[in-house]
Amino acid sequence: MSGLFITFEGGDGSGKSTQIVLLAERLRGLGLEVRTFREPGGVAPGDAGERIREVLLDPAHGELDVRAELLLYEACRAQLVEAHYRPALAEGAVVLCDRYTDSSVAYQGYGRAVLLVEEVRELNRIATGGLVPDLTLLLDVDAAAGLEHATAAGADRLEQAGQDFHERVRAGYLAIAAAEPDRVKLIGRMQVTDVADAVWSHVEPLLARAGQE
Ligand code: TYD
Repeated sequence: MSGLFITFEGGDGSGKSTQIVLLAERLRGLGLEVRTFREPGGVAPGDAGERIREVLLDPAHGELDVRAELLLYEACRAQLVEAHYRPALAEGAVVLCDRYTDSSVAYQGYGRAVLLVEEVRELNRIATGGLVPDLTLLLDVDAAAGLEHATAAGADRLEQAGQDFHERVRAGYLAIAAAEPDRVKLIGRMQVTDVADAVWSHVEPLLARAGQE
């Protein structure tokens, strides 16, 4: 049995977490086993992944080198892939991730604009052992509008990186979507329910393909 691996991507404040909750509910309503994760992060307070998340997002760590930053994201990811994503997929579950490898390409590659995008992709391959999503939903949102929404409660380290950085991230995401149209589906800004419908239109055909229906 092999499950379905779906990732959500997009700029800060693009509404991914709301859509993941809605999709998880809908899939569970069909009787499917669904596991949700968020990167960077772990699965329990204080575990290694959550501690790496704290290091990455703490505004006090402004000095973090781009390579150090990338490797911390990849360390977090490597742990989740081996300990959680692969076992869940092997059990036939639907795995929903709030961010995955495309975030590193968009943020550390296009956004930071220090490393080559191909270098970031290579580290993604190493960290994940080549685990590629069946489907990636890219929620596109104007960088300024997204940032305003995301930072309403105070900015974390990445959100403080400035408007130009976030414009490059958005452009990077659009380049990824253009390069991999079969895997990555671009969904523009709409009402929450319309975005949910668009998400479903991409997920539903895969349920049959993965033998989940
Ligand atoms: P988070 O609060 O989870 O943001 P969001 O709700 O927008 O997903 O913070 C994660 C931040 O880390 C976000 O600014 C994007 C960034 N990030 C990277 O730069 N590279 C990565 O590989 C990942 C997974 C996230």
